Amino acid sequence: MTDQELRVSKIQRGTVIDHIPGGQALNVLAILGIDGTEGDVVSIGMNVPSDRLGRKDVVKVEGRELSQSELDVLSLIAPDASINIIREFEVRQKHRVDRPERVTGVLECPNHNCITSESEPVETEFEVLDGGIRCVYCDTIIRENIASHIYV
Ligand SMILES: Nc1ncnc2c1ncn2[C@@H]1O[C@H](COP(=O)(O)OP(=O)(O)OP(=O)(O)O)[C@@H](O)[C@H]1O
Ligand SMILES: [Mg+2]
Ligand SMILES: [Zn+2]
Repeated sequence: MTDQELRVSKIQRGTVIDHIPGGQALNVLAILGIDGTEGDVVSIGMNVPSDRLGRKDVVKVEGRELSQSELDVLSLIAPDASINIIREFEVRQKHRVDRPERVTGVLECPNHNCITSESEPVETEFEVLDGGIRCVYCDTIIRENIASHIYV
């Protein structure tokens, strides 16, 4: 890592989500449920030059690791993302995201008659297909702009 790549001060402990497609950083924050009002300490790089991707986004979250559900949904909008776990200012673990067979939670089904849309909702579950994701309860398929279906 060169100093040029480190555009903000180092974090002591937390997660750096690197190699996000340019323009997707705010959707990544939405997946993590971060809107700034809860005091999370977050740095964002948008459209930073990248050898691998041309332009990339980077999200650095202090004091937080990602759940498997968050990683699963993240993989749908950032398939090349690297997850770097930071401890004592250093990268202690680095892994890529895997495309899962199913994603649970995080996304809502667009069908208002779906059992997962009721007032005490059943957790959503979608099967991951090549061209989209399919609700396992009502078969509704989301083909594009998956990020617009993140629970708010
Ligand atoms: N303590 C830290 N605080 C904030 N960001 C960090 C910290 N340490 C590393 N990073 C960032 O985490 C990412 C991965 O760091 P690393 O040193 O592994 O870079 P790299 O060698 O370019 O990795 P890769 O091969 O995955 O691109 C980079 O975006 C880097 O800026
Ligand atoms: Mg790098
Ligand atoms: Zn449904």
